[in-house]
Amino acid sequence: MTATPKILVIDDEKGLRDMLHFTLSKEGYDVITAASGMEGIQMASSEMPDIAIIDIKMPKMDGIEVLDKIKEVTPDLEVIMATGYGTMESAIESLRKGALDYIHKPFNLHELLAVILKALENKKLKSQLVSVMQLDKLKDELLSTLSHELNTPLTVIAGSVKLLMGQVLVEEEKKAEMLEILNTNVDRIKTLVETILDFSKMESGFYKIIKSAVSVPDMISHAIKHVQPLADKAKIRIMQDHNLSGQHIPPPQCVIMCDLIQIERVLVNLLTNAVTFASENGKIAVWFETIKDQVQIVIEDNGRGIEKEALPRIFDKFYRADNSLARKEYGLGLGLSICRGIIKLHGGSIRAESEGLHRGSRFCFMIPING
Ligand SMILES: Nc1ncnc2c1ncn2[C@@H]1O[C@H](COP(=O)(O)OP(=O)(O)OP(=O)(O)O)[C@@H](O)[C@H]1O
Ligand SMILES: [Mg+2]
Repeated sequence: MTATPKILVIDDEKGLRDMLHFTLSKEGYDVITAASGMEGIQMASSEMPDIAIIDIKMPKMDGIEVLDKIKEVTPDLEVIMATGYGTMESAIESLRKGALDYIHKPFNLHELLAVILKALENKKLKSQLVSVMQLDKLKDELLSTLSHELNTPLTVIAGSVKLLMGQVLVEEEKKAEMLEILNTNVDRIKTLVETILDFSKMESGFYKIIKSAVSVPDMISHAIKHVQPLADKAKIRIMQDHNLSGQHIPPPQCVIMCDLIQIERVLVNLLTNAVTFASENGKIAVWFETIKDQVQIVIEDNGRGIEKEALPRIFDKFYRADNSLARKEYGLGLGLSICRGIIKLHGGSIRAESEGLHRGSRFCFMIPING
């Protein structure tokens, strides 16, 4: 609902439209008017009012027909029917068709304002119900993804431990291999728990930013070092100060005021994604430039890419472009939402670009140089 509730009056009588416009505007509402049903339906879809007051008796298209059509285009609109003498039956029919209430003409101002307040309250309750339902859906999604993401490494850990503890003698070489698998899966669970803790800190507003002077090239090198083992394992090359075509982009001397740990976390998250969603023998390029009083850091890869429809949702919490059970990659769909939160706390911005599936992705974020 908008800050000032918007009311659409549909009535063929000019005097009535003008009177309602004057009276309701004086009460603080934003009032728009339409002289016919057709005009009203168009205005409802273009202006998105909160409430419509529709006259039942109108030439060409009567109020009931307008109600039918207007509910098709804007189902959330609260409709109040204005009834005149001899239109009681139609008024009752309109309630059956989804109108909230009706009022008699000539209008009693107190009655009219009371019905409008009731309609606004109704709209608010409906939107709260939608929020609760969305939250509930989000919770279900989290629980199902979380149990799936935890179950896989836990099953591997349980199997390896059983073998190592069992009676069957395990060769030394095999033992080392199993310990390595154990280690990888424990790390996976640790990362998962860290992500959830980060996310809950961000959601509850406990994320603290402690700024200091940071050298951008050093910070990038450090973040790359962190993900290098993962990249090596997947045979993916990370190029610093180059773009994806291999062109060298000389790094400018750049010291910025930021929270080193948090911005490095953003870099690690973006690099981990680039490795995770890369293609075999893929490439990742990391470079930066200064634009006026901001630094822009770019991380691009020639991997899986992102579909056009998925791009606007990529930073939403729990969003994973491929959410099928067959998905091979681990992750809760929280990394990018945490990145966006950190960048926002620095007064910066982050965006994702991709030409589409299998055409690589580019993530760019900007933060002010002087904090
Ligand atoms: N470089 C990339 N290439 C292709 N798709 C990507 C890339 N980065 C992110 N995505 C898509 O965006 C989704 C959301 O990314 P995000 O980092 O928020 O979650 P995640 O990596 O799935 O899990 P988490 O980061 O919580 O471990 C990913 O699941 C993936 O579908
Ligand atoms: Mg991620």
